[in-house]
Amino acid sequence: MKNRVVIFLLFTFLLHPFVYSQKAEGLAKTPPMGWNSWNTFSVNISEDVVIGVVDKMVELGLKDAGYTYIVIDDGWMLRERDSDGNLVPDPEKFPNGMKHLADYIHAKGFKFGIYNCAGSYTCGGYPGGRGHEYQDARLYASWGVDFLKYDWCSHGNLTSEAAYTTMRDALAATGRPILFSICEWGDTEPWNWAGEIGHMWRISGDIYPCFDCEDRHDDGLPTQWSAWGVTRILDMRDNEQLRKHAKQGAWNDYDMLEVGNGMTAGEDRAHFVMWSMLASPLMLGNDVRKVNKETLALLTNKEIIAVNQDSLGIQAFQLNAMTDITKVLKTNNDSLDVWMKPLAGGKCAVAVLNRSKTNASVALQIPSIVIDEENPLIVFDADKSYTMRDAIAHKNIGNVKKGNISTVVPGHDIVLYVLEPIKKK
Ligand code: GLA
Repeated sequence: MKNRVVIFLLFTFLLHPFVYSQKAEGLAKTPPMGWNSWNTFSVNISEDVVIGVVDKMVELGLKDAGYTYIVIDDGWMLRERDSDGNLVPDPEKFPNGMKHLADYIHAKGFKFGIYNCAGSYTCGGYPGGRGHEYQDARLYASWGVDFLKYDWCSHGNLTSEAAYTTMRDALAATGRPILFSICEWGDTEPWNWAGEIGHMWRISGDIYPCFDCEDRHDDGLPTQWSAWGVTRILDMRDNEQLRKHAKQGAWNDYDMLEVGNGMTAGEDRAHFVMWSMLASPLMLGNDVRKVNKETLALLTNKEIIAVNQDSLGIQAFQLNAMTDITKVLKTNNDSLDVWMKPLAGGKCAVAVLNRSKTNASVALQIPSIVIDEENPLIVFDADKSYTMRDAIAHKNIGNVKKGNISTVVPGHDIVLYVLEPIKKK
């Protein structure tokens, strides 16, 4: 008996670092997709809203398109923990509690996500997780939580990597596989450390539903902060740095989508296609109960989603990071970005983003491109012929020879082509 106890203790001690010091394995093999309450509802979230959204997502085919995680962001709990230190869902907003809602969400075939913060308070001023990590993780697991978004407000003297590691270990200790979404806004370069801790990490402050604006918040706050339009987020970091860290189970998170929240159709398209090219999580941020046809068609466009969800899991690069763009791009417009994303099966995606408001004519001659010196991957071979398909309009558009593509991109819009090598018979 004594021996058994000794063996058990030894076993637990030796295995402890492996079992409890790892993020959940096998999750987020492709960028997570789902819906998050924040962009539309802020803290005004409730069981009614979530159930309405879930039902609509099934009815409209959004679930079938791959949007799996239903995430309730800030504002779901009471302002104080209970006398045992437990978080308490707001009974007015969630009268049947979180387990009940999780069961509903699971029964409809979705996964359930929730929000809290590594600091003492969430950004909305609700109780944060600091000092309660293991207790909170057990509570989430008991409700059936599958996804935790963990914010960075009121972090005081915490160190980001250590704080997120504590929560990762607390989640691991529950034994439930919980996708861990790190929301530290890119402040301490999470792409350099977060891959071992979480499955996705924000690279920016909050998104705002505009193409290229900054939404400043100066209003008497101790620290000024801004929310950012689509191109502002695209330009916030060095993409070549970020993209090296994206891989299966670990993604740069460009923030929840603002598609359907007031931008033009072209701007929505540019936003959605770029997030797909960047292998960012695709978390809907609109009120899907009121989505219009055009927005729905974009959000359920299988060919764009396939670019995002491609099994290689490689984040797009800008062509000018690989070659002298002035030699390969002829255009009447100097506000163009050309992005490329390698896809499985020797295919690749090419997106041309027009940041200006005027139409652009484009004559592009893509050179041969190989990435990754250690493990070379041919992204494009200019000596090969490719078929070309317009992934937005679902149309084949002839063959590409010697890398030559010509097209027109409307202002504040994007084109997305998928190129596939023609096999010699
Ligand atoms: C931060 C996050 C947002 C959202 C809010 C909630 O601003 O970056 O995505 O979660 O907090 O208060």
